[in-house]
Parts: sequence; C-alpha cells; structure tokens
Amino acid sequence: MFKIQTLNKISKKGLDLLSRDDYEVAGEIPNPDGIIVRSFDMQTMDIPASVRAIARAGAGVNNIPVQKCTEKGIVVFNTPGANANAVKELVLTGMLLSSRRVFEGITWTKSLKGQDVDIHQVVEKEKSKFGGTELKGKKLGIIGLGAIGVMVANDAIALGMDVIGYDPYITIDNAWGMDHRVQKSNSLDVLLSEVDYLTIHVPLNDSTKGMINADKLALMKKGVKILNFARSGLVNNADLMKGLDSGQVGFYICDIPDEEILDHAKILCIPHLGASTEEAEENCAIMAAKEISNYLETGNIKNSVNFPETDLPFTSDYRITISNKNIPSMVGQITTALASGKANIADMINKHKGDTAYNIINLDDALSPEVVENLKKIEGVISVRYLENKK
Ligand SMILES: NC(=O)c1ccc[n+]([C@@H]2O[C@H](COP(=O)([O-])OP(=O)(O)OC[C@H]3O[C@@H](n4cnc5c(N)ncnc54)[C@H](O)[C@@H]3O)[C@@H](O)[C@H]2O)c1
Repeated sequence: MFKIQTLNKISKKGLDLLSRDDYEVAGEIPNPDGIIVRSFDMQTMDIPASVRAIARAGAGVNNIPVQKCTEKGIVVFNTPGANANAVKELVLTGMLLSSRRVFEGITWTKSLKGQDVDIHQVVEKEKSKFGGTELKGKKLGIIGLGAIGVMVANDAIALGMDVIGYDPYITIDNAWGMDHRVQKSNSLDVLLSEVDYLTIHVPLNDSTKGMINADKLALMKKGVKILNFARSGLVNNADLMKGLDSGQVGFYICDIPDEEILDHAKILCIPHLGASTEEAEENCAIMAAKEISNYLETGNIKNSVNFPETDLPFTSDYRITISNKNIPSMVGQITTALASGKANIADMINKHKGDTAYNIINLDDALSPEVVENLKKIEGVISVRYLENKK
C-alpha cells in the first residue's frame, strides 16, 4: 500500500486513477510515499523522510525545493503540456478578438442601455465602426513550437491561415505532431518580415527576454497583430507602445498584464486565464497521478525536472532502483555489490541528468536485505528502492 499526501485540492479525475486497493490518499497522512501538490508552498515545509516522489499538477516548480529534493533522492515531477489545449483555445480567442472588434462592439452596445434610442436603427448605423478582418488567408508566425505552439499551428491551418514557425530546438515528437503544411523558418527575422499575426510560445529566460523589441518590430509588416500568451518580459513594453502609437503594430493582446500597458487603446490584457479551465486542471491531476504511481510501482521516470527520463520494462519479478551522484565508477561498485550477493542482473539502464544519475536494474531473483543495505552504504549512493513486480 502506497500513501499519497495531497497538499492542495486535486481533481478527483486524477486521484481516482490511484486504486484504493493499492493507495491511501489524504490531505493529512503519516509517512507518505508521495506528495501531489498544486500551488502549496513547500519551500519551508519539512518534507517527511518517507517521501520518494513529489508530483506538481502544473508546469512551474517554484513552490518546491527541487535542489533539496534531488539531494535526498526525491524525484520531482511536473505536467508539461497538460494545459496546452486550454492555452491554445485562448490564443485562438485572442486572434479573433484582435481581428474582429468584438470586445469594443460589445462594450459600446452595453452603453446603449437606457439611452432612449431605437436600438436596431443605431446599431445598423454605427456598426461600421467595429468592422474587422478575417483570419482565413492571413499569415501567422509562431515563435516556439512546443506543446502550445504546435497546437496553435495545427488549428490555425484548419482555420485556413498560412502558418510559419520558428523553433531551433523543436523536439522530434513535436515536429511529428505538426501539420505538414506549417512552413519552417530558419530565421526569426525572415518570419517576422512575412507575417500578419505573430504569436509567442517560448519560455522566458536570458535569451528570450525582450526578444520582441524596436529592432524586431521595425522588420515587421505595418499593422501586424501580436499575441503574447507566454510570459511578460518577452516583449519590450516601451518599444511595443511606440510601435502601436506609430501604427507599425496594429494590436497587442496578452495574457500577462503589466501595469504600464493596461490602458492602451490598442492593447487587450487578459488576467492570465490561459490555463484556467476545468479540463486543464483535470489533465494536470491525471498526468501527476500517472507519473507518481508509475514511479512508485515501477521506478520508471517520465517528466521529472530533477531526474533523467528512465524507462525499463518491468519484465522481471524484482528490480532495484538506485540514485547516485554522477561520478565515475558508481555502476562498477553497484554491480559488484549485487554480484557479491549472488544477484543475477536480467537487464539494466543507467541515465543521468546534471549531477544526478539513476539506475534501474531488473533482477532474476529476490534480493537479501543485506545486499540492499550494502548498496545504500556505497559512497555516492543517494537512495535505493527494492521493488517487487505486482503485475
Ligand atoms: N498563459 C498561460 O496561462 C500559460 C500556460 C502555460 C504555459 N505558458 C507559457 O507558454 C510557454 C510555452 O509553453 P509550452 O507548454 O508550449 O512549452 P514547451 O516547453 O512545450 O515549448 C516551448 C518551446 O519554445 C522553444 N524555444 C525555446 N527558446 C526558443 C527561442 N529562443 N526561439 C524559438 N523557440 C524557442 C522550445 O524549443 C520549445 O519547443 C511557457 O514557457 C510558459 O511561459 C503560459
């Protein structure tokens, strides 16, 4: 029986995947094997020594002391892409809102209330103020073809847009998942010079901060519409507002409002609603529950921020998993300790991520507790788990 502590309300759809025959799940539980968390701040929390894994139902892990966890051999998971569809749908909404003056039109229509006018007549007379353009046939540029960017690309193709993407680090899986009609740009500047709409889907870091600035705006077509549903800081706000005032930029719509852009007439700020759907919360919980149960039951690791992706089919009756410092001669010492305990290795895998290495070793026979203790004593070994195949 594994014990899972939940530090926030986690969607039932996720927790239901943890069969109550094998899992005890509660907000308060002594000696948990795993923790599922959303936003609870674990930075100052005393994490029980029994904890083997923490799954964050969401992408960011700022609320988890990842380095401390790594030192203790605790695997930290997140759920990348689980909210991608929610963000994609809001990006599509943003593209439509930037093309059709729906928001302004609705606001104006509401203002007619109580004005003692013939509504039908006034609407027909004034509606031309809110005319727009269509997405079909326009060119969309996408910076960052990850979980969200690829979904936006595919749906924009379905809407009849021409789509061009730029991502020098695209993964093979994301490339496989993309509509073949999406054009590839090897140069950000070329992409910028061609598009009617630009949408940004990259992480904020030193190399992407301010990536859309005055120089880049100058390369773009006059009246370009820009969407930023990734992070504040990717676009230089001062340069953007100059571009909007001069007409170089037609419209800016973002999901991450900054004080200085809130009241600009050509900017729509959404209050960070990208991932705020019931389905996204459920998807995150489902993914977190699958990751943590897979790890507790098999030792296999997928979507960890501090341990390497490691997958070895559990084809034997027993296996041992060992995390250790990524230093020379560890594998030799581990296999020697197993051999001296007369253990026969059926299969094994060794991976590393940064300073941490992780091994999964399938064994033909059961292992004596002394061998497990000897493995724990090897200098550089961080944690050891001995697992029986229940399936
Ligand atoms: N609005 C919201 O609520 C919300 C929700 C989830 C994510 N986000 C933001 O959206 C971003 C994208 O999310 P995702 O799930 O698609 O992430 P992802 O990691 O799946 O994709 C990011 C992509 O950006 C690419 N990339 C990195 N640096 C680049 C560069 N300099 N030029 C071009 N491409 C580059 C990467 O190769 C990767 O393919 C996240 O970093 C996050 O900041 C926002």
